[in-house]
Amino acid sequence: MAVNRMDEVRRRHAAAEAGGGPDRVARQHAEGKLSARERVDLLLDEGTFEEMDKLVRHRCHDFGMQDQVIDGDGFVTGYGYIHGRLVYVFAQDFTVFGGSLSETNAKKICKVMDLALQNGAPLIGLNDSGGARIQEGVLSLGGYADIFLRNTLASGVVPQISAVMGPCAGGAVYSPAITDFTFMVDRTSYMFVTGPDVIKTVTHESVTKEDLGGGMTHNAKSGVAHFLASDDADCLRRIRRLMTYLPQNNRDDAPRRSTDDPADRMDTALDGIVPEQSNKPYDIKEIIRRVVDDGDFFEVHEHFAKNIVVGFAHLDGRSVGVVANQPAHLAGCLDINSSVKGARFVRFCDAFNIPIITFEDVPGFLPGTDQEFGGIIRHGAKLLYAYAEATVPKITVITRKAYGGAYCVMGSKHIRTDINYAYPTAEIAVMGAEGAVNIVYRRELAGAADPEAARAAKLEEFRDLFASPFVAAEVGFVDDVIEPRETRPRLIRALRMLENKVAVSPKKKHGNIPL
Ligand code: HXC
Repeated sequence: MAVNRMDEVRRRHAAAEAGGGPDRVARQHAEGKLSARERVDLLLDEGTFEEMDKLVRHRCHDFGMQDQVIDGDGFVTGYGYIHGRLVYVFAQDFTVFGGSLSETNAKKICKVMDLALQNGAPLIGLNDSGGARIQEGVLSLGGYADIFLRNTLASGVVPQISAVMGPCAGGAVYSPAITDFTFMVDRTSYMFVTGPDVIKTVTHESVTKEDLGGGMTHNAKSGVAHFLASDDADCLRRIRRLMTYLPQNNRDDAPRRSTDDPADRMDTALDGIVPEQSNKPYDIKEIIRRVVDDGDFFEVHEHFAKNIVVGFAHLDGRSVGVVANQPAHLAGCLDINSSVKGARFVRFCDAFNIPIITFEDVPGFLPGTDQEFGGIIRHGAKLLYAYAEATVPKITVITRKAYGGAYCVMGSKHIRTDINYAYPTAEIAVMGAEGAVNIVYRRELAGAADPEAARAAKLEEFRDLFASPFVAAEVGFVDDVIEPRETRPRLIRALRMLENKVAVSPKKKHGNIPL
């Protein structure tokens, strides 16, 4: 009897492991995708996966489903370790009913989500699904809603990471959308609320699946996805890398990383990166890489709103979030997309105790009817709100322009930034000298004997007085004007000083960020 039971255990485990069978697994491979189990194995430290609910079966008796039962019901769920740290994981198996969500496999996901929340460990979801299991109707929809609720409750408590590694359509997209970071795989994944056929019927637009919701579309156009991987293995490798910057939960600090990069390392090359001419572009990422530990910068949202750069790095072995205007793109202007991108990143860092380092070179908000009609007022306010609300250590370095409202927004002293530095090239003013002179001296210049000479004189006066960091330094809005070469040691010393920072905000249920 005992032997028979052992056989039955083995038989059921093997059936679950076989998923939809060798033909469907071969089809998955032929499409350039790994199976759910292969993905979980690559994601986690070798041999650490503990599977749960492997023997769960669906309970549907309609449409002949009673004759099609697969142990595990397609989804692979459980826990394991990444770099020795606990994570919970679920992976949808496209080889079983197209990875569709049933009442029972939704319960499997909810179980690991509840455990992640109770035990304070990140949750990683690997999505590859045809959506709601059609045969189960509303029971499947209820399963989705149960997951969305848990995504929302876990938001800001444990990091949640989604990888879209195949189809993700209809309401199913809203689970990844609520999580903190979404990875997509180039050419083999897509996300949309309604697919090309429905769009054709409703709006008569013709669009391919790839153009509508492929990896590059969501990385570059919509901003729904944060990372674009070249294939499944690349995607899983990058999730492992992202994990090195994240704490386990909102009560924890991110792990410290050992580094041989000296904390007092100066870099004279930094002195020559910001050009003398204030309208000449340069790549802010070069400054970031030269400052952070080992030149190692992990960019988030690389393809979206390139006028702002966000990502993770280590300084003195400590995980930091970097936010930087990018003068090499749209002159580093803030627009709708860059405001939303920056705000979301700042809020993530604040929720998870990751200090924020800001490099500022911003000529202002992007002018234009597109921006105004699109609500730049509301969206720009998100970035301002996020910075003001953040209580983690905040350090800002103004490399060049800090003009107008954008000066206030980008981690200014006034919105609770702890330490503000400026390079000698910094220009801190209400607006550029050209605009200022045109407004303030319009009448006087029009009446001048030599308007051009008078204009040039006024411009110089303005530049001398305002296009410099010294007025701000004299009133303490910047704590010091520093030489670019000393950026790294100065940031590290400030970070060490802020290590035990406690800042409180008024008690409230939650704020009302202008969404
Ligand atoms: C049950 C499904 C399924 C589903 C696919 N399958 N989607 N079974 N429920 N939602 C099954 C197929 O019958 C097939 O079974 C196997 O999975 C593989 O599907 P194929 O169609 O052969 O694969 P492919 O050609 O790659 O096409 C993939 C696909 C397509 C584009 C995802 O399957 C598809 O359009 N599926 C339906 C998508 C959909 O409309 N879902 C509901 C969306 S609404 P066999 O046995 O032949 O291998 C929704 C609402 C969520 O999800 C709401 C949340 C609030």
